[in-house]
Amino acid sequence: MDPLSDHEVSQDKLITLGELSRGIAHDLKNLLTGIHGNSELALRGYKNEKATKKALTNIMLAARSAQDLVEQISSYSRNETLPDKVIDLRQLLSKTEKLLADAVPPGVNVDFQLPESAVCVRANPSQMHQLASNLCLNSLHSLARDGGLLSVKLSPKADSSEVVLTVSDDGPGIPEKILPRIFDPYFTTKEIGVGTGLGLAVVHKIVTDYGGSITASSTPGQSTDFVIHLPMCAEQPEEEEPAPEPEDFVAEKKAILLVDDEPIMRGLGMDILHTLGYRVSVAENGREALALVQKNPDYFDLVLSDSKMPEMTGPELAEQLQSIKPDLPFILVTAFNDAVTEAKLKQLGVQEIVHKPFLIENLSRALSNALSKKSSGN
Ligand SMILES: Nc1ncnc2c1ncn2[C@@H]1O[C@H](COP(=O)(O)OP(=O)(O)O)[C@@H](O)[C@H]1O
Ligand SMILES: [Mg+2]
Repeated sequence: MDPLSDHEVSQDKLITLGELSRGIAHDLKNLLTGIHGNSELALRGYKNEKATKKALTNIMLAARSAQDLVEQISSYSRNETLPDKVIDLRQLLSKTEKLLADAVPPGVNVDFQLPESAVCVRANPSQMHQLASNLCLNSLHSLARDGGLLSVKLSPKADSSEVVLTVSDDGPGIPEKILPRIFDPYFTTKEIGVGTGLGLAVVHKIVTDYGGSITASSTPGQSTDFVIHLPMCAEQPEEEEPAPEPEDFVAEKKAILLVDDEPIMRGLGMDILHTLGYRVSVAENGREALALVQKNPDYFDLVLSDSKMPEMTGPELAEQLQSIKPDLPFILVTAFNDAVTEAKLKQLGVQEIVHKPFLIENLSRALSNALSKKSSGN
């Protein structure tokens, strides 16, 4: 269907909503097929290290794409604001540049021009990353056929009130007729399964949420420029506490109590914790976890619990454990859409929060952080 032919807005939204669901279903089906097929390959070829490694890498890539898709959808439908902090956009963009490297098609050059010193904004890091990568991916997509240049430029205004981020490409450009609609949710000129039409809607929402502005301009056949203004902040980013090496604790074989109602997550958690060198006990719910701790109050070194569980939630479990064993470190594993704020969680005795889906590295760091705080007595 040609999305340009229909100018009736409400009708158009209904149609594109249908298209969107089909697009998402199509994307997910492909990704799941990849995960399924490669899991089978890995199982069959587990004696062949090289084949297994390749299959596992493909599984990880598919899972990452599925995660991107879900993040895009949830950022657009999210109402609450995410926790923010002072971040150096220059550092963040150089990370984005590295992460995008795999997505650069042949014949396309990428040029990031970043200033010499820090450019700070107060924002949520993953939203800022999403903003930059959505714009870059659109450019890369437009350049895929004939090649060209994607340039990203970050420059603070002289009075340090605002930072200007420009994402430009010399691809085919955007026809004048559709330029006013590109920020509309679900508006896409791409095929089903290729575009969801949510990328720029998400970018627009993020920019306005942070009190900034965005403009798009294009000369068809020549270039496209997106210019974003964001308020700068005078503070400097907090020094990240250097995380103790996870290896420090592996040798000691600390005992972890893993609480999760989902059998798959429990199995995965157990495997990961074993790989990291911990002893693991499991509980299927909060009640079971409480009973285990009550029975052996000195056995466990840490509780690692899922947040959303029937009967008793993770935060509720943390609160109850405080009265049994107040110094037992508690890590909460959660999806972003928690009703309880981070400050409230700390009050309930939650030391570290790990967001789902997590990298093993992040979990490992949270574990060593929580365990080292305990052993150093604060
Ligand atoms: N750099 C660009 N060059 C050409 N067209 C673009 C560019 N960026 C965005 N567009 C147009 O804007 C539309 C909406 O973009 P977006 O919201 O990211 O959704 P999607 O990429 O899923 O189509 C795209 O389908 C495309 O037509
Ligand atoms: Mg896009």
